Amino acid sequence: MQEVGVDIVDIARFAKAMERESFLQKFFHPEEIAYARASAHPEQHLAARFAAREAVRKVLYSQLSSLDWKDSWIVNEADGKPVLRFSRDLLQKVRIRHSSVSLSHSGDYAVAVVLIEVR
Ligand SMILES: CC(C)(COP(=O)(O)OP(=O)(O)OC[C@H]1O[C@@H](n2cnc3c(N)ncnc32)[C@H](O)[C@@H]1OP(=O)(O)O)[C@@H](O)C(=O)NCCC(=O)NCCS
Repeated sequence: MQEVGVDIVDIARFAKAMERESFLQKFFHPEEIAYARASAHPEQHLAARFAAREAVRKVLYSQLSSLDWKDSWIVNEADGKPVLRFSRDLLQKVRIRHSSVSLSHSGDYAVAVVLIEVR
């Protein structure tokens, strides 16, 4: 089975939420926080990653009874290309054969599209 998920996040609203450190710790992997903080506009990168989380939820929701916010996260390859990573816990529950993610942020919004193939 192969499915696509998409989500869009309002960056300004998101930036307010991320003022709380507890919010960042709850939703993001340390690698994502470090990547965002190294840039001039951390909020746009984290908003896109939040959108990716929601997109993953859309795809995997039907397969799982529970999904932790930190069961998936994004790392960037040397050329900037984002790649999805999944927790061991999630991979024990769902057999993910292939995944792909694309992010964009411009002005007020950040979007993510995720494709996941499950065996
Ligand atoms: C990828 C690219 C099209 C981004 O376009 P953009 O309109 O400036 O920015 P967008 O907001 O639409 O997209 C940004 C996202 O593109 C993604 N991206 C960056 N490089 C990418 C690549 N090589 N392949 C796929 N996606 C890429 C990232 O996820 C980035 O968001 P993030 O930094 O939060 O992870 C542009 O940067 C590009 O042409 N890059 C080519 C590779 C390159 O020049 N790399 C430089 C470092 S070696």
